[in-house]
Amino acid sequence: LFILLGSLAAFFLASAAAVALRFDIAERRQSEAKFRGLLESAPDAMLIIDQTGRIALINAQAEKVFGYEREEILGQRVEMLMPKRFRGQHAEHRAGYVQAPLTRPMGSSLELYGLRKDGMEFPVQISLSPLETGGHTLVSSAIRDTTDQKSRELALRQLSGRLLQSQDEERRRIAREFHDSVGQYLAAAKMELHSLQTRATWTDRGDEQQFAECSQLVGQAMGEVRTLSYLLYPPLLDDVGLPSAASEFIEGFAKRSGIQTNFETSPNFGRVRRDVELSLFRILQESLTNVHRHSGSATAHVRLVRNDGLVTLEVSDSGRGMPAASVEAFQNDLAASLGVGLRGMRERITQLGGTLHVGSNGQGTTVNATLPCSEELPRGAPSGS
Ligand SMILES: Nc1ncnc2c1ncn2[C@@H]1O[C@H](COP(=O)(O)OP(=O)(O)OP(=O)(O)O)[C@@H](O)[C@H]1O
Ligand SMILES: [Mg+2]
Repeated sequence: LFILLGSLAAFFLASAAAVALRFDIAERRQSEAKFRGLLESAPDAMLIIDQTGRIALINAQAEKVFGYEREEILGQRVEMLMPKRFRGQHAEHRAGYVQAPLTRPMGSSLELYGLRKDGMEFPVQISLSPLETGGHTLVSSAIRDTTDQKSRELALRQLSGRLLQSQDEERRRIAREFHDSVGQYLAAAKMELHSLQTRATWTDRGDEQQFAECSQLVGQAMGEVRTLSYLLYPPLLDDVGLPSAASEFIEGFAKRSGIQTNFETSPNFGRVRRDVELSLFRILQESLTNVHRHSGSATAHVRLVRNDGLVTLEVSDSGRGMPAASVEAFQNDLAASLGVGLRGMRERITQLGGTLHVGSNGQGTTVNATLPCSEELPRGAPSGS
């Protein structure tokens, strides 16, 4: 009986196991189909990489983006999809990732590139996530071709560069017009008034006083025109170069604002390219305007030096510092929450291949602009090769 019961139990257990196995296989097939469906419907190129760094699965989008047929890359090393210069480093990073897998963007501080079958490189954004399967960790990576995004960014930068340039030209034109027309009419009027005053014999004391007031108002208007046209475009900049123009501007700023501002520069600074001079002058103007408007500082310090092919302009104050939100917006390039001032400074510097740093805390703010610079070409020399 025991033998009979034993074999019956064995029979039941075996058939129960067979049923469970059938369910198991059906369930696995179903979830595999779901997984495939998800993989194929993803908008990004997807690669699943095994522990040895070989490509285990890809979706149709990945075939399209990299220009390969599926069979050509399945089982190959993932490094075949990146330019040679990244391969050695990538293999190391991949090993590190398997040790501590997390869902994260790849190489967030690096410009990443993919390599197509035809040898073309394209910029990519990659995000990685671990996939646990039966004791193995696979890595799924979603790859987005950012060529369009990059060219839109470039077009936007070029557009804002052109806007700044045409704004400079417009300012230069208005400054000249203002100075040469209104300024000249006022100067002529002032001379006429002066000559009239010396010739006139006043019968009414009130008339004489009124005349003197008119003459004084014309004098004030002349002063305003001069300051305004100077602020729009410093006439000295083209003629005598940045250090002298900066020095004169700083003197005027200190007088107008009451902020004690000192200026430090290299004695043999010389001339640099005209666009570099103008950009740095605009950054100086905007930084000092910011010191006056926002910092509450009683002093400011400007340093303009030239070393090893680099020009550095630094404007610092000892005021209340920028609000944390503005510092964060600047560091993360969140243009929308910044004023035109800091954004414009960054655009100007980026256009010329330089860098802009802003450091700020409760003790003050420092704006540092550094640009590569070559010697100014003699005026009239061709700028090409
Ligand atoms: N030297 C400074 N000290 C304190 N806060 C500053 C200083 N410079 C800038 N800020 C802060 O950073 C913000 C952004 O400056 P930004 O020059 O971009 O804009 P803005 O001066 O407000 O306006 P605008 O577009 O007219 O320049 C300012 O609103 C201010 O809060
Ligand atoms: Mg400003």
